[in-house]
Amino acid sequence: MEYTLWARGLRRHYGSGPSLVRAVDDVDLAVAPGETVGIVGASGSGKSTLLHLLGGLDRPDGGEVWLAGRRLDGLSETAAARVRRRGIGFVFQAFHLVDELTARENVELPALLAGTSRRAARRRAEDLLERVGLADRVGQLPGRLSGGQRQRVAVARALVNDPGLLLADEPTGNLDSAAATDVLRLFGALRAEGRTVVIVTHDSRVAGTADRLITMRDGAFTDETVLGRPAAGSAALAGLDL
Ligand SMILES: Nc1ncnc2c1ncn2[C@@H]1O[C@H](COP(=O)(O)OP(=O)(O)O)[C@@H](O)[C@H]1O
Ligand SMILES: [Mg+2]
Repeated sequence: MEYTLWARGLRRHYGSGPSLVRAVDDVDLAVAPGETVGIVGASGSGKSTLLHLLGGLDRPDGGEVWLAGRRLDGLSETAAARVRRRGIGFVFQAFHLVDELTARENVELPALLAGTSRRAARRRAEDLLERVGLADRVGQLPGRLSGGQRQRVAVARALVNDPGLLLADEPTGNLDSAAATDVLRLFGALRAEGRTVVIVTHDSRVAGTADRLITMRDGAFTDETVLGRPAAGSAALAGLDL
């Protein structure tokens, strides 16, 4: 089987001598197509650093990252950016929307950058915003949206180029409980439709959206639990255990 994401011996250290931090230390990971992998761990355990390495936003000091059979680490910044734009959707804790652009324009932007026609990008953005429950908010600026709505815009944006892999870093970290529930349901739905997702969090409820849960501590994987894939549809949402 070709893994969607495959990494071996990943390492990223900061500093040196007594101040050396082994942020990521010899991590192996293989994510199958359609799998949702949750990575949990305390703050400072290396989750964000790992996600950045997996998504080609940062380069490892050692090890390899392969995305759909193509080696990602070591690409030039331009080449990595190209791979990311088409192949990976990112969702961050702090949303990272462009404040001056409407919800629709935020979602359209990566499609336009990838060369999609203006018309197709608009249609795709509107479809996705409808899917995340924001059909009536397409023309709003992020400042007029709640945190939960902003994160749903960010999820729509992450999906606009139909990437083979979705990487999410604490997607509910800035949300109140009700908004976090909405965003978790959305990830449950993405899992049910067979998206490939790596979701990093210290929120144990997020674990309910995963097929497999990995615990990280001091830069290394310490524990792994296979949760199993529920049947598609309502069972997937029931699996959220909210
Ligand atoms: N740019 C950096 N320079 C120095 N240390 C860093 C840097 N980024 C992260 N770290 C350190 O690496 C460790 C892992 O950080 P991080 O990946 O952000 O953890 P998490 O996302 O699990 O909270 C922490 O000890 C953090 O302080
Ligand atoms: Mg983090």
